[in-house]
Amino acid sequence: MRPIDNKTFVLASHNKGKLREFSDLLAPFGYTVRSAAELGLPEPEETGTTFEENARIKALAAAAATGLPALSDDSGLCVDALDGAPGVYTADWATKDDGSRDFMMAMEKTEKLLSETGADTPEKRTGRFVATLCLCFPDGETEYYRGEAEGHLVWPPRGTDGFGYDPVFQPLGHDVTFGEMSAEQKHGWKPGDEHALSHRARAFQKFARARLGAA
Ligand code: IMP
Repeated sequence: MRPIDNKTFVLASHNKGKLREFSDLLAPFGYTVRSAAELGLPEPEETGTTFEENARIKALAAAAATGLPALSDDSGLCVDALDGAPGVYTADWATKDDGSRDFMMAMEKTEKLLSETGADTPEKRTGRFVATLCLCFPDGETEYYRGEAEGHLVWPPRGTDGFGYDPVFQPLGHDVTFGEMSAEQKHGWKPGDEHALSHRARAFQKFARARLGAA
């Protein structure tokens, strides 16, 4: 496997939440991240039709611009009764005409479509959050690590702790939504823990095992 020869990644994201999360996850391994925003990199348009394609577009742009290995993540919510929608368009469903984001609007849209299918039991309302993490070298060589969190959608939304669609997603085996969990409970994972709960943490866990020597 191709070695990573320095201890700094560029994180191909302008999102402060993702920066904090990745910094926390990488710190135990002695790696640091610099964000695309801090380095003044433009945000490329996400024109892919899969999580992998969008993750690659972001990571490749950041790696090529900086000469550093780049990490990116592309994620979304896939609802079975909606044939996997909103999927790669999860963020778009929350985007208003003026460009701002409204996740209550997005959750209402998802719920309206879901109830039109007659999905009135947890079994008919299943779905998963998916996250694909991409490691990209400046010459364009890429690796992907995918994590999924299974669960079902609830209505009305519950909890104020998370972001995005967290208040309507109840992960399998839990009786609270992601929005009712602490960040530590949802994303937390440190070397030695067997499982992470969230899709992003699971993708990171695979990456850390393959690339950072995690147990
Ligand atoms: P992106 O990965 O930055 O393209 O954004 C994907 C979209 O999926 C975001 O708008 C989030 O709202 C949503 N999303 C991804 N992961 C989560 C999560 O853990 N909780 C809630 N929403 C999420």
